[in-house]
Amino acid sequence: AAPTMIDPFGRTVNYLRVSVTDRCDFRCTYCMAENMTFLPKKDLLTLEELDRMCTAFVDKGVRKIRLTGGEPLVRKNIMQLVRQIGRHIDAGRMDELTLTTNGSQLTRFASELYECGVRRINVSIDTLDPDKFRKITRWGELGKVLEGVKAAQQAGLGIKINAVALKGFNDTEIPEMLKWAHGQGMDMTVIETMPMGEIDEDRTDQYLPLSLLRANLERQFTLEDIPFNTGGPARYVKVAETGGKLGFITPMTHNFCESCNRVRLTCTGTLYMCLGQNDAADLRAPLRASEGNELLSDAIDEAIGRKPKGHDFIIDRTTRQPAVARHMSVTGG
Ligand code: GTP
Ligand code: 5AD
Ligand code: SF4
Repeated sequence: AAPTMIDPFGRTVNYLRVSVTDRCDFRCTYCMAENMTFLPKKDLLTLEELDRMCTAFVDKGVRKIRLTGGEPLVRKNIMQLVRQIGRHIDAGRMDELTLTTNGSQLTRFASELYECGVRRINVSIDTLDPDKFRKITRWGELGKVLEGVKAAQQAGLGIKINAVALKGFNDTEIPEMLKWAHGQGMDMTVIETMPMGEIDEDRTDQYLPLSLLRANLERQFTLEDIPFNTGGPARYVKVAETGGKLGFITPMTHNFCESCNRVRLTCTGTLYMCLGQNDAADLRAPLRASEGNELLSDAIDEAIGRKPKGHDFIIDRTTRQPAVARHMSVTGG
């Protein structure tokens, strides 16, 4: 029988998110503080080690790997890893290799990603106004990202646009973004901001429950709930007027933990069994302890055996402290 990992709550874990670097060429204000201390390069797993980790997970039943960061495409020689993981797809051992990227390097990497077996990527774009884009990313250039999106489309990659919904920033712009994305044949996902890591802003002010956004969209669009599922946390609707799909990711108002199928590996070899919990497992020591994967395999089993039931994110209006001290960029979401 095909290998499977099953957690204590009976959920099958078949989706591995791998943060290949904690660094990013942007500093989205909801994600990072302006001054971040990044990991010293010597603490990173090498690309070979990351490949070994991924293979160990595939051996245990992972069918989908998503590379994240930070920004995955700023990791030096990252395509070497993409190519290696892509081989599992060729061998029928994996269904999907994908990326979540800010798009800044896509003009350079789009065709090569496709060649390596990537068919679909998620690109984070929170606004289509160049000035607002510069503000939210602190210095990012929207034009460059849009060129990247175009290059990715030309390379044959399917694209989903991710936007974090931020009150007073992009809430009124979402309908326009939706028309743009769908007009270009791309799906879109909106995301509730999660309280992870100290940032320079007050998240309580920016937080927008997506029920409000949905009600607003429904004044303009006909949204039909559909069973479409990408294996991620979004719940999708089809927009009748555009024919495209819109996903809602609602960790705060309506979590999706009961169907969680994923774990996340950091670039130092730490495995987080839940985005919203601190509990973690060190996989670097067992990886390095021997050339074979037996110790690693046991360590993975042990970690899956304590995957928590779910997260308990709250936007705390009294303390205004993040629910989880670690930044989103440590695990790439
Ligand atoms: P698809 O494969 O297209 O479904 O992508 P995805 O939604 O799994 O990945 P993506 O990296 O685009 O993530 C979109 C948002 O979902 C990010 O803000 C992630 O932090 C968030 N997300 C993904 N998995 C989880 C999860 O298990 N818990 C929570 N709370 N958020 C998650
Ligand atoms: N809350 C919700 N989403 C976030 N992202 C980054 N930080 C946060 C946060 N605090 C998003 C990015 C990207 C995805 C990986 O996570 O915009 O689309
Ligand atoms: Fe970089 Fe993505 Fe975080 Fe923005 S959300 S700072 S693009 S890792």
